[in-house]
Order: sequence, then C-alpha cells, then structure tokens
Amino acid sequence: MKITKDALGARKKSGPKITMLTSYDYPTACLLDECNVDVQLVGDSVGTNILGYDDVSQVTIQDMIHHLKSVVRGTKKSFVLCDMPFKACRTSKDTLENAKLLADAGADGVKIESEKCAIEKISTVVSEGIPVCAHIGYTPQTPGLKVGVQGKDIQRATELLQLSKQCEKAGAFMIVLELIPERLAKAFTEELSIPTVGIGAGRYCDGQVQVILDILGITEKDFRHAKKYAQVAATYKDAVSSYIKDTQNGYFPTENHIASLPDDVIEHIQKLIHEKKHS
Ligand code: KIV
Repeated sequence: MKITKDALGARKKSGPKITMLTSYDYPTACLLDECNVDVQLVGDSVGTNILGYDDVSQVTIQDMIHHLKSVVRGTKKSFVLCDMPFKACRTSKDTLENAKLLADAGADGVKIESEKCAIEKISTVVSEGIPVCAHIGYTPQTPGLKVGVQGKDIQRATELLQLSKQCEKAGAFMIVLELIPERLAKAFTEELSIPTVGIGAGRYCDGQVQVILDILGITEKDFRHAKKYAQVAATYKDAVSSYIKDTQNGYFPTENHIASLPDDVIEHIQKLIHEKKHS
C-alpha cells in the first residue's frame, strides 16, 4: 500500500521511526521500494552526486523532473518526495508553478529549503494542495551558508526554533533537520506537532534521512553523520577489474554466455563468404 503524508504524520505518535533515503534512478527506486523504505527523496543532491555539478545551485527543474520520473516508475509503496531546486524557487509564483510540474510528474510531495524567505512559498504551495516538507539547519541552497553544524549559539538556535514553528504554521507536513546538535533537534522534535526527520541531527528525531550513496559506501569520503552499511565502491571496482582481466585473458565470455546456431545456417553463411571471396 502507498504511504501517505497522513500516515507519515501519524508515525510521530505511533512510531516506528520514519526512514527516508535519497533516490535518483529507476533501479534504486525498485530496490528501496522492495525494502519498504518509507520515503524516497529525489534530492537536489542529484546535482553533485549523479550529474557531476560543482554545487546544487546548478540543478534545474528539468533535471529534477527527469530523475523524479525514473524514481516514480520504480516505486509502488514509498512516498516520493522531490526537492525544489534553488533555481525553481525565486518567487512564490515561480515556486508554485514548479511544484505543480513536480506533482504532475508524480511527486507525492515537495521539499523546500526553508530560510526566512521560504515561509510564504511553503504556504502558497500548500494552499494549492501539494504537500510540503520543510528543510532547516544546514541548507545547501542558501547562498553563503558555510557547510557545518547550525544552531550552536543562542542567536542561531533561536532563529531555527522560530523558523521550524513558522514552517509548521505555514502548513508543512514534515520537516528535515540537517546538521543540528542532537539536544536542539530533540527540543524541536518535542515542540513541533509535525514529524522531524534528521540528518546529522541525532537520535531523537521522528525519523532519519541519509544519502543512499553514503550508506552503501559508494561515496568514498567518511561523514560523521553517515554510517557505511556496505563497501559498494570496493565491490564495484573489484567487479569491473575482474571483467577487464577476464575479457583480456579470454575467460569471458564462455560457453555459458553464447547463443547456439543450427549447423545449416552457419554452413550457408560460410558458403556465401567462400563464394564471395572466389568470385
Ligand atoms: O538533497 C538531499 O540529499 C537532501 C538531504 C540531505 C536531506 O536534501
């Protein structure tokens, strides 16, 4: 059964914790759906993780739609959440038009990075019936914001508390807390009535979100906020190296990998070749 925003909301009280992973393509979407991950996030991190851009501000709405559609095709059960890219959110009108494009492409909801100027955008999109997940703390789309933990001093912690309350009031059904100290994320989680989903925000959020490449060990870098559950980069490289070696040494393909051909067909072809050579 498809997971709805109301079902996610109910998990704040009833548990279990919400699980969210980034998902950028069809095969990943099929596997995550099979594993029953609650939310597949088509994050704008697709820009740096998949498309090779220098930063997420380069991601276009067309990039998001292309990847979103492949994820939607592979998903039956997970809630598909799609990031609104930086370029698609210049004004509230802009944000709404682009949120509608994502909803038409199959997104069950959109995520909007939420510094102060985003509150009106959230309420505009929500008022048109499109579920919005807010995102506060470290927000990579915010120009000039240094990568790092947010809310360690009284001023920024107060600002983030106010922002989280404003997002809730504007109608966000869920909120991502990125790189926030655990004690602050716990306080926000207790204060808000919508579920909090943390990344680098500690143990007390209502759910967790991770970048799929980080937990699989495809990302070679080690992040404090991530746990590598596999070493896929190493497995990947071993497999490719073995393929290269086998091909060059004649060990691949073998008899098991070939199609058979009736004798009369090959005899006919050989006869044709022979006749052509001697004509
Ligand atoms: O785009 C992304 O990967 C995200 C997560 C880090 C929450 O927004």
